[in-house]
Formats: sequence, structure tokens, C-alpha cells
Amino acid sequence: MPKSNSCKKVYITTPIYYVNDVPHIGHAYTTIIADTLARYSRLKGYDTFFLTGTDEHGQKIEEAARQRGKTPNEYADEISAKFKSLWDEFEISYDKFIRTTDEEHIKGVQKAFEVMYEKGDIYKDMYEGFYCVSCETFWTKTQLLDSHLCPDCGKETRVVKEESYFFKLSKYQDRLLEWYKSSETNILPKAKKNEIINFVKDGLSDLSITRVSFDWGIKLPKSINDPKHVMYVWLDALLNYITALGYGSDEKRMGYWHNVTHLVGKDILRFHAIYWPAFLMSLELDMPKHIAAHGWWTRNGEKMSKSKGNVVNPKEVADAYGLENFRYFMLREVPFGQDGDFSQKALIERINSNLGNDLGNLLNRIIGMSGKYNNYQISSNDVKKYYKKELDEAEEILDGIENYIYDMQLHRYLEQLWRVLTLANQSITIHEPWTKMKEGKEDEALALVALVANLLAKVTILLSPVMPKTSDKIAKALGFEINTNAYEQIFKNGKLLDDFVIEKIPALFPRIEKELLSSDTPKEKIKEMSAAKKESKPLDEKSDDGLITIDQFFQTKLKVGTIIEAEELPKSDRLLLLKVDIGENAPRQVVAGIKEFYAPSDLIDTQICLVSNLKPAKIMGYRSEGMLLAAKDKDGLTLIRPESRKRSGTAIG
Ligand code: ME8
Ligand code: MG
Repeated sequence: MPKSNSCKKVYITTPIYYVNDVPHIGHAYTTIIADTLARYSRLKGYDTFFLTGTDEHGQKIEEAARQRGKTPNEYADEISAKFKSLWDEFEISYDKFIRTTDEEHIKGVQKAFEVMYEKGDIYKDMYEGFYCVSCETFWTKTQLLDSHLCPDCGKETRVVKEESYFFKLSKYQDRLLEWYKSSETNILPKAKKNEIINFVKDGLSDLSITRVSFDWGIKLPKSINDPKHVMYVWLDALLNYITALGYGSDEKRMGYWHNVTHLVGKDILRFHAIYWPAFLMSLELDMPKHIAAHGWWTRNGEKMSKSKGNVVNPKEVADAYGLENFRYFMLREVPFGQDGDFSQKALIERINSNLGNDLGNLLNRIIGMSGKYNNYQISSNDVKKYYKKELDEAEEILDGIENYIYDMQLHRYLEQLWRVLTLANQSITIHEPWTKMKEGKEDEALALVALVANLLAKVTILLSPVMPKTSDKIAKALGFEINTNAYEQIFKNGKLLDDFVIEKIPALFPRIEKELLSSDTPKEKIKEMSAAKKESKPLDEKSDDGLITIDQFFQTKLKVGTIIEAEELPKSDRLLLLKVDIGENAPRQVVAGIKEFYAPSDLIDTQICLVSNLKPAKIMGYRSEGMLLAAKDKDGLTLIRPESRKRSGTAIG
């Protein structure tokens, strides 16, 4: 994004997402950051073009479609529509949603191939090496993990030996190194930039850019006349950033190309910071201005994946907690470039404290005070007279705030806004307008309310790219509208609000007391639940409100058991090793986390309730063949037991 108004065209892109998978929180994160930047740029009055879309060709998609008994086309249509409708629901302000199966894109890619070919940057040879279908990446043997696994994702690679066209990547090595040095080049975070530089310094080999062993890709241009080949999906995909502007067809939007910010996840920085600039050099087009790579969202510290069943569905989170609250959380919680762990607890904490207490409450306080003191009328007339110091302090905090946007330090940006909110809240505490009213200093009290309204107005304008609707509501309550003019006047020029009557709006951030999604369960539980779900026939019967059918309940086999042996596990201060009779030939061995609450001797010959059809698990090297039911709260843990003695093995239910 440009720092000054001199260059007003701004282009912001997200990666185009593979259609082998439905959107998850990671995709939402990238898209929400890009959306925030686009909205910010529009707020500043820049002519902004924001692109997102889907990446639909390649072996991975072809295979995913085949596994589902669909053609790649059908499958791509289906998943691409899911991305698009999610972004629409999330009110992502994209200007174009590109699909790599679009005619225009295909034409543009063929054109680019032709240009590179005619330039002498492409030649035909044999490729021999390894390929990771999941990452759509070529590897040499020495790069592999244990000489067969993909170093990026750890999956099995395949041996590829086929005729291929190559791009002369090696030719651009020096120019790339020069480009990284230029002050115009912003690759963020800086640590990652150095990794890229080292990678390039190690030497670049030419890049295989066509495949012959499958079909689902863009054919080479007719002029080359080699119909066996389809293009390598990363060449096809990266070119979307220019075909979306009309490269190779109607080029009227190419003006946006001069000022581009590519937002990507750290997994694909290498493609964007090495291959892509080299392709652009070959095409003799400008280099991107910003390539910014954010970190990875994990779940309970682990990578999210379908097979683990721990993928966070962004729509569920937004539905449960509010879309804009979710946006705020994602941008505030994790420093840009670092990994972050998704937890509902942290999300709730942010909503209740940052949004509810600091922001929402501030508005309520001025509604309350202005109502009581002056029939909801607020005038900025005396603010400078009484509270110049506070105004100046806010100005100082906000002074360099835009730099945080250019450096993608969005969490810092939000922190600065919150410093202003703290200043506003503290001014009320310090100056006690209610005391001033009692002392007959009505002017001062009213000026304080107006001061707070003005501070809130500035924050609201700057918060609007992150929380557009919420900010609009606050602005409306404060009698103004958020637009470029308000940004210029109220934020840039320090103009105070015109006199207005504050609107009494309902609380913006009702307090959340408990976790609203059931999916924060540990991974093992989710796995078991999903295994159980698969076994139960009518999957569709699982209702949206989290209710289960009686059949689903009875998949859990609960039995009365009698503890016949109990001992401490030597290395653990939590676990006991139990033998439990449940009427079978041999007792069940159970490892239970109850050592803090029960002495082994007190347990012998008592009865408990046991989940008897859990898959056995190894805990600290001991096989555990069941789970005791227990209830735990802050006062401790108690086992759930039958009220009167029952035969061991009696079914519960
Ligand atoms: O790589 N945390 O598509 P893709 C944070 N088609 N971000 C995540 C994430 C996570 N756990 N998982 C995914 C591709 N992302 C190519 C891109 S561009 C010319 C072609 C985000 O569907 C992150 O932005 O695998 C990452 O770069 C992108 O999704 C990868 O999406
Ligand atoms: Mg991926």
C-alpha cells in the first residue's frame, strides 16, 4: 500500500485456494487480513482492487475429484462455490473472485508462456526427481526427508521421470538477489526474507513447468504445438495475479499492477518470493511491492488437518461469536508472522474484555452520562479548553499508527487503538464528571463527555477496516458517518465532532459466559466422536443444535464395575493403575487420573461406572481399557458410583 496519496492505485491479493478442501480458519485468516487492508486502503481514498479466488488445476485436484467419483470440473465448481459463498457471507469486499478455470485466465497463462518461450527462458528436457502431490512441489532426492518424504508436509513423494519444459530459473538468481536488497522490496516477516535469500544463494535449479502424466491443467499455447503437456499448477496459479487484471486479454486493469501487496501464508512464501518474481522478470513486468507471509493457526498446539478431525470451521465460529468479533480476535491475538493457537477461551476473553469492557462500555458510559447531564446532547465546544492534554496524548498515540499497517503489524495497530480507549476510560475515572456536576462545574463535566466521544470517534474510524459494521453503528450513535472525508477530517486533521444528540443503542458486545462451540474437546475425543458418528447410520440425523439420537447415545456402553486392585503409577503424580471387574473373564486394566483425589486402598472393592467400549489406549506405557465416569469442579473430583451395589458388569442406561 502506498504511504502517500501520490500513487492511488492499490492492488491486494490473497492466495487462490485449492479446491481439494473446504475453507477453514486458516483460509479465513488470510482473507480477513487482506480484506482489512483493502478496506483500509479504500478508507484512505485509494482506488483499490482486491482479488481472491480458487486454484483448480493440477494432480491434487484431479485425484481428489476422482476419489469422490466426480469429474475435476464438477468438483472444482462445487468447492469453488463454497469458498465464494463463505466470503460473501463474511462480507469480504473482493472486487474479483478469479477461478483458474476461467477462460480469461487460461488465455492469459498461455500468453505468458508464449512470451517466456519466445524470450528463450523456456526449454524442453527430461525431468527426473520427486514430486509431492499434496504440496504440488518438485523435490530432489537430497531435499527429501529420510530420502522419500516431502520436507514441507512430511507426506510420501512420488518418483517422476518424464519429458518436461523447464523455466530458466537459474538465469534469474543474481537479479533476484539484487532485488531482495532493494529498499523497495518488502518481504515480511524479515526473518523469512533472510531464509529466502539464503535459499537463493544456495543456487537455483531450473524449474519444471509442464507435466505429461495427467490431464487436468492448462494446455500449452497452440503455437508450441505439444498437446501432451499441461502446465505445472504453480505457474498457472501464480499468473492469476496478472490475468485477473486482464493480462493477455483485455488489459485495461493492468494499471493496478504497479502497486501490489500479496498476502500469503508462510507455507507458500517461497513460491511467491522466488518463482513469481522470476516469472515477472521474464515477462518484464514490475515486481510486487509487498509480499507478506503470516503464520500458522494450530489447534491445541497441533497442525489442523482433516485426518485429525481438529479443523476449525470459520463459519461455526463466526455464527457462534459474531463475525466481526472473530475478525478482531484473529488480528489482535497473534503477532503477524507468528503461529497462533485457536482457543475459544482466548476468543471469549478478548470479546468480554477488549470489546465489551473497553470499547462497548465506553460508549455506554457516554450515553449514560450525556443522558443524565444534558438530555443526550454532546458538544465539542469546550473540549480543547479543558482537556487539551488528553487530546494531544491521543494524537501522539495515533501519530505513527499507519506504519503498523504498512509493516503488517496489525496486532500493534489494534493495540494502539486500545491505548486510546484506555486513555478515554481513565479520563472518566480521573476527572469524575459526576463530582464536577455536583460541584456545579457542568461545563467541565460535559466537555469531558465530549472528549471521550471524540476519542471514541477517532478509534472507530480506524477500527472500521477490521470491524466495519460495528464501527458504523458506533459512528452513527456519535452522529457521523465513516468515509474518506471523516478519515481526513477527524483522524488526519484533528477536527472535533459537530454537536450531536447521541443515540441510545443496545449493548454491542453482550457478555459471553461459556464456550459456545462443542469442538474444543481434545483431539482424542473428537476422533472418537467422529468414529462413532461414522458408524451410526443416519448421519443426517445429527441435528444442528448439538442433540444426539438415542441410538447415538447407546453407542457408548456404560457398565457397573468393581475395583479389585489399585496401585500408584511410580512416575506419575496423577495416575492410578486399576483392575476393574465388569463381569468378563478377566478384569479390565484402567489408567485413571484420580491419584490426587483417592488413595488406592480406599478404592478397593468400591464400585464405579465404566465406559467399556473405548478403544484401548497406551498411557505412560500402560494399556488402559476403559474410562471411569467422574465429575470435577474447583473443589475437586468425585467418582460417579451406583447408589446401591450392583452385580459387576450391569449395563447402565
Ligand atoms: O497453497 N493457518 O492453496 P491452499 C493459517 N493454491 N493459514 C492457513 C492455514 C493455517 N492453518 N492453512 C491454510 C495453496 N492457510 C495454493 C496457493 S497462490 C498463487 C496458490 C492459508 O488452499 C494460508 O494463506 O493450500 C496459505 O498460504 C493458504 O491458506 C494455502 O491455501
Ligand atoms: Mg495447502
